[in-house]
Amino acid sequence: MRATAEANPNIALIKYWGKADVELNLPVTGSLSLTLDAAPTRTTVALDAGLDADEVVLGGAVLSGRPAQRVERFLDLVRAASGRTEHARVDSVNLIPTGAGLASSASGFAALAAAAAAAYGLDLDGRALSRLARRGSGSASRSIFGGIVRWHPGDDAASFAEPVDAPGLDLAMVVAIIAAGPKSISSTEAMNRTTATSPFYAGWAESTPRQLDEMLEAIAHADFTAVGELTESNSLRMHATMAAAWPPVRYPTAASVALLDATRDLRADGIEAYATMDAGPNVKVLCRPADAARVEARLAEVDPTADFLSARAGEGVRLIDEPAA
Ligand code: DP6
Repeated sequence: MRATAEANPNIALIKYWGKADVELNLPVTGSLSLTLDAAPTRTTVALDAGLDADEVVLGGAVLSGRPAQRVERFLDLVRAASGRTEHARVDSVNLIPTGAGLASSASGFAALAAAAAAAYGLDLDGRALSRLARRGSGSASRSIFGGIVRWHPGDDAASFAEPVDAPGLDLAMVVAIIAAGPKSISSTEAMNRTTATSPFYAGWAESTPRQLDEMLEAIAHADFTAVGELTESNSLRMHATMAAAWPPVRYPTAASVALLDATRDLRADGIEAYATMDAGPNVKVLCRPADAARVEARLAEVDPTADFLSARAGEGVRLIDEPAA
């Protein structure tokens, strides 16, 4: 009747951008990500027969409006699957800025899925948990697993994530947090607008599966350079499709562009670094672990106001014994 789970954010190397089914959160294409070993979300779900409605607390503040409804709708799914009707108290702590394109919805719904499933007495394997987390936020399907993770497109039964073996591939990710404020437009809204109005969306939907295949090939051969080039290219393609939507969606700011340039300059200096961006202005740079300190130092020189998080591959979602304080 009460459970606590922790999940880490993941950063997509091949992006999820566009829904084939908005209700079920089925993606148009497959995607692939790296689960980080930093910035977990810890969530406790406690059933309480005395509650008239779910109560959702994030970082000590009671959630209301649409973010709260999103959690309530998610718990409705868990209640329907479990046959239980009690409302719950949800207490979640995000150790990264929320809503800043740092994948907090991924770690958030992955932790919520695991904690809620356990609290309501559902016994789900990783695949079923990934399908459940997907209903909360598409990218959350991938944070169920650690390391490199692939999320399949398809129908409700087929669209789950699973880990990808990556022997010999050691990745680091330097996250430059250049603005912790809430994003201008949510990823959900931005991707729906892109699919509806961008004339470039067809090109994205057609070329991303090919880049995903090339990425899997590069991972199988531990080809760091190919992994990096595909990562940067796929991100730029995603941002290009949304720039062509109307009204346009543009997440990179001048500060982001300066860091993209700095990443290109690092490569010119012989340090293999590749940038990727999501639904916010932050820049994430993929590099070898041995280069992470130098990458961070260079980016910090270019943007002394940025905060940095240096991460490696991390583990998937886990239930933990002590409930959150
Ligand atoms: C740019 O998973 O946040 O980070 O399914 O609507 O909740 P919803 O969207 P969300 O979108 C993530 C988009 C992205 C790319 C990615 O993580 O693959």
